Amino acid sequence: MGAALVQRLRAQGWNVGAVARRREMLQELQHKDAGRAGGRLVVRAHDAARAHEVPEVFEDLVRELGGLDLIVYAAGIMPKVGPQEYDTEKDLDQLAVNVGGCIAWCNAAARLFHTQRSGSIVGISSIAGDRGRKGNPVYGTTKAAMNTYLEALRNRLGEYGVHVLTIKPGFVDTDMTKGLPGLFWLISADRAAELVLKAVRSKATVRYVPKRWWFVGTVIRCIPSFVFRKMNV
Ligand SMILES: NC(=O)c1ccc[n+]([C@@H]2O[C@H](COP(=O)([O-])OP(=O)(O)OC[C@H]3O[C@@H](n4cnc5c(N)ncnc54)[C@H](OP(=O)(O)O)[C@@H]3O)[C@@H](O)[C@H]2O)c1
Repeated sequence: MGAALVQRLRAQGWNVGAVARRREMLQELQHKDAGRAGGRLVVRAHDAARAHEVPEVFEDLVRELGGLDLIVYAAGIMPKVGPQEYDTEKDLDQLAVNVGGCIAWCNAAARLFHTQRSGSIVGISSIAGDRGRKGNPVYGTTKAAMNTYLEALRNRLGEYGVHVLTIKPGFVDTDMTKGLPGLFWLISADRAAELVLKAVRSKATVRYVPKRWWFVGTVIRCIPSFVFRKMNV
């Protein structure tokens, strides 16, 4: 989804910074766009779990881009977890990327946007954060943490003209969902990126992507706990 967002923003003329661990994937993204009309693409290889490195990478990117109007935290991992598996290391890895990385990058942007009194912060959370599901307890926990953190940022920064948006996608056809059973209403990463940018433009606060997942989220949140624990959703 991050790559699709980068391509769309570039095509719209924005200078864009793309950050991920795999340098070769970033270079591929650069080559794909070489020669096309649009903004510049600046890439940095970085592991979001290394939160202490974020301030330097962030400042360096902002300098090279000539400023910043929008940050989208789209990094995330969702390892397969067995029904009897309680692997703390695996669980803490998810926390480090999905929550620690999100906080480190969004805090850096929040500081800048507060000072410049403008900017948009977007976190790609998930509908999975709406309830505690038995399938992957910590993935949902990381998304619930993102939701609360982003809400708090929104409440802090609103009065300074800074927009904070929580995105809750349903199923999107990416590496993360490859081979997963039971997918439905699957959309492409490019369609998801289009809907995310539409939500940014409309200054939405929380947006299910596509919007029909709002109904699913609302119903799921209303299911009593004693019923939910018997379900596999
Ligand atoms: N796909 C879905 O159905 C779905 C639904 C709801 C929410 N989401 C959320 O949407 C976001 C994007 O997921 P996706 O579907 O696009 O998955 P994806 O195709 O697996 O992409 C994940 C991205 O995160 C980057 N990443 C992973 N670990 C990282 C780390 N330690 N440091 C820096 N970058 C890292 C990956 O790049 P590198 O591996 O090169 O680092 C990759 O670009 C995630 O937060 C996911 O939880 C996805």
